[in-house]
Amino acid sequence: MKEKINQTVIVLDFGGQYKELIARRVRECGVHSQILSGNTPIEKIKEIAPIGIILTGGPHSVYEESSPHTEKALYELGIPVLGICYGMHLMTYTLGGSVKPCGVSEFGTINTSFDDAACALFDGLDSDAVTLMSHNDFVATMPDGFKPAAHTGDCPVAAMYNAEKKLYAVQFHPEVERTKQGTKLLRNFLYAVCGAKGDYNIDDFIEREIARIREQVGDKQVVLGLSGGVDSSVCAAILEKAIPNQLTCIFVDHGMMRKNEGDEIERAFAGKSLNFVRVDAENRFLSKLAGVTEPERKRKIIGEEFVRVFEEESGKFAGSFLAQGTIYPDVVESGLTTGAVIKSHHNVGGLPKDTKFIGLVEPLRSLFKDEVRALGRRLGLDETLVSRQPFPGPGLAVRCIGEITKERLDILRDADHIYREELAKADLHYDQFFAVLTDMRTVGVMGDGRTYNYVLGLRAVITSDFMTCEYAHIPYPVLDTVSSRIVNEVHGVSRVVYDITGKPPATIEWE
Ligand code: XMP
Repeated sequence: MKEKINQTVIVLDFGGQYKELIARRVRECGVHSQILSGNTPIEKIKEIAPIGIILTGGPHSVYEESSPHTEKALYELGIPVLGICYGMHLMTYTLGGSVKPCGVSEFGTINTSFDDAACALFDGLDSDAVTLMSHNDFVATMPDGFKPAAHTGDCPVAAMYNAEKKLYAVQFHPEVERTKQGTKLLRNFLYAVCGAKGDYNIDDFIEREIARIREQVGDKQVVLGLSGGVDSSVCAAILEKAIPNQLTCIFVDHGMMRKNEGDEIERAFAGKSLNFVRVDAENRFLSKLAGVTEPERKRKIIGEEFVRVFEEESGKFAGSFLAQGTIYPDVVESGLTTGAVIKSHHNVGGLPKDTKFIGLVEPLRSLFKDEVRALGRRLGLDETLVSRQPFPGPGLAVRCIGEITKERLDILRDADHIYREELAKADLHYDQFFAVLTDMRTVGVMGDGRTYNYVLGLRAVITSDFMTCEYAHIPYPVLDTVSSRIVNEVHGVSRVVYDITGKPPATIEWE
């Protein structure tokens, strides 16, 4: 089969945390994108013949000795370039302009004026804009031939361009949701400046990934840890398409699933053509976790135990690959891309040294959650599986603050079940919602008696990428019902609180 060649946009990475997000926005606009290191030689870029190049942001200052730089030749290829944040500084510095430390640094959403309607980036955009800024340096003098196109109160050149040379740069981050017209701006760059045809779609991803999986796996067997969540289910679906007779899905019931969930997962998968194995490992996990309260430690224990259980269960598959439904936000938040650990995800970080698996297969590693769902739908997965809200691999362990015991997990399961039941009754659908059992106990009063029971937290969030979120404004009458049902029906909870924090600064899970 002749490989289909798509138009490609190269995202040159200068260490910014949003490089995958930029690549994903480009894909969303129907254009294939590829991330390459910022020091990729010009020759290699020429070979790929991209229709456009995007320079990412990064934590550096162009004047630091160790900061990454670009060659002048990059801007002379005749290929359109869009510099974002640090990428804008690089373009300025390399082409003879000047970059200086800001008098007032800008962090967060900033009112921005898109001043030049003739600039292709701003075609059809409202000139009164809100953008996400995050910078300590700014463009003090533009290179020759450039025009300013936007400004903020503290940043005189928030965008600049040289239409003739097809060079564009913005100080803000068009790729994040908080820059309201950001995707439109990127679309303008791709279609009006780069001449994109929009020839990329999810079928291309499937085709490429299937070829890649087949090449990696050869005639070996693959064992997948199936949790029943969206990621592992979609992972199972694409693997089944790529290597139908080489796939065994093992569902490890670690005893930290939501109420009835283990049985539901079994029902969903046991009937399918893949080889489905359910392992009851509740006692094993709980005894390893006994007395452990530190969240990172819990995650590590669960992660390691998970792999061990697999190894035992897959003894008959010695020399197989281990597949995982790792998605991009897991990779970012485990610090593999930026070096900063926010949380260690149990499915990130490679195999333990003494493993019997011969390698990892991670078909979803470059995708965001909503892309995974779109892929699942395209692969024909049941909607109940595809639209299921995310559930962390370590399960209720991350929602049971303090010591994990069966008794405390049962309290959490019952409360969570009531919460979910009442939201469903009220026909409320949020991207993710759950109960959290805290380790704090407070005094309450029930009947004539004093109680001293746990505080239970409720969380509901609105998000599309799970990298950021807003809390949901659940109607008070629904919260009233949930709270009174939980306190009355679940023994062990004396107080219910609702979490009104966004991400950032909080994360979605409590831990
Ligand atoms: P946080 O709490 O980091 O969560 O804002 C972002 C999203 O990731 C889910 N999550 C996990 N998913 N393995 C996973 O597969 C994990 O270890 C894990 N921890 C958090 C979380 O539920 C939210 O949707």
